[in-house]
Amino acid sequence: MRRIAVLTSGGDAPGMNAAIRAVVRTGIEAGWEVDGIRNGYAGLIVGDIVPLGARDVGGIIQQGGTVLGSARCPEFKTVESRQQALRVLDEHRIEALVVIGGNGSQAGAHALSDMGFPVVGVASTIDNDLYGSEITVGVDTALNVALEAIDRLKVTASSHHRAFLVEVMGRECGYLALVAGIAGGAEVVVIPEVETDPEAVVTELRAAYERGKPHALAVVAEGAEYNAEGLAGYFREHRERLGFDLRVTVLGHVQRGGQPGAFDRLLATRLGAAATEHLSRGEHGLLVGLLKGEVAATPLTEVVANRKPLDPQLLVLARVLAK
Ligand code: ADP
Ligand code: F6P
Repeated sequence: MRRIAVLTSGGDAPGMNAAIRAVVRTGIEAGWEVDGIRNGYAGLIVGDIVPLGARDVGGIIQQGGTVLGSARCPEFKTVESRQQALRVLDEHRIEALVVIGGNGSQAGAHALSDMGFPVVGVASTIDNDLYGSEITVGVDTALNVALEAIDRLKVTASSHHRAFLVEVMGRECGYLALVAGIAGGAEVVVIPEVETDPEAVVTELRAAYERGKPHALAVVAEGAEYNAEGLAGYFREHRERLGFDLRVTVLGHVQRGGQPGAFDRLLATRLGAAATEHLSRGEHGLLVGLLKGEVAATPLTEVVANRKPLDPQLLVLARVLAK
């Protein structure tokens, strides 16, 4: 093999740059030329491709986001657009591809791999919803951003004896909310995986005050039926009966833009290096992630066929520790 390429796709995640850097430098070490594809699958289809040398990826390990750019590219779900991608890869004499991204991006990687092209995925999304990696690149940094916000909200919540609601990202997955709730000492956690009765949220928040807490804070996943909008609407509708206000903060994209911490830089570096190692052994059609604390590969067919379950122990912990 002489030439490989790397792209970042879907929602950006802190640590993607560290993964790009690792792919480029370990790829060069393996004797290959490495190209960067700009803006994910959108750039691949139109051939937006640049050569990357070791110096081109200098000074990026500490930067959030992705220097290659990312994109949502719905047309990549069509076979015609993936055929176009294969033509572009052929024109550029690219013989293998590393896809750094989350769930959807790895579905794209799998689809391309199914058409006979060698692909290795690197598990990277703040949502932590990807089968094949207990933790994905970006989660730790995003969590720390959420925790900083939660800690600050608790300060003002305590001063005013108020109830607060913080919405975190995660799409249909409640991992970020659950773990931010545990680590941030929330009174209530609302996630899509568990059906929520808004009246029960009210009861829990009120009970927190009655137990003598100076604040009552709920961490809510954006994908929950009763997310910030849903719960705020419920509170507005029943304001008189409930007898207290709810202040709402939606963290949104702030969580994605953080500077990657040590954990994400190291994880991304190890996964990027593992991706080129697999390619050098002629292994592909795989996702590299972290399993039982070790770097491990999972076939992309398995990745796309499975959903990662939430650890039920974490749910129990969240409830017990809120007391
Ligand atoms: P993430 O990778 O962060 O989960 P998305 O779900 O938006 O983000 O997916 C990123 C991109 O991956 C999509 O915009 C699309 O280009 C590609 N993709 C997603 N699902 C598929 C699929 N089933 N087949 C082919 N490509 C897909
Ligand atoms: O997948 C990462 C993520 O940040 C999700 O948590 C969120 O739902 C989504 O991306 C937001 O997407 P966009 O940046 O396209 O608005």
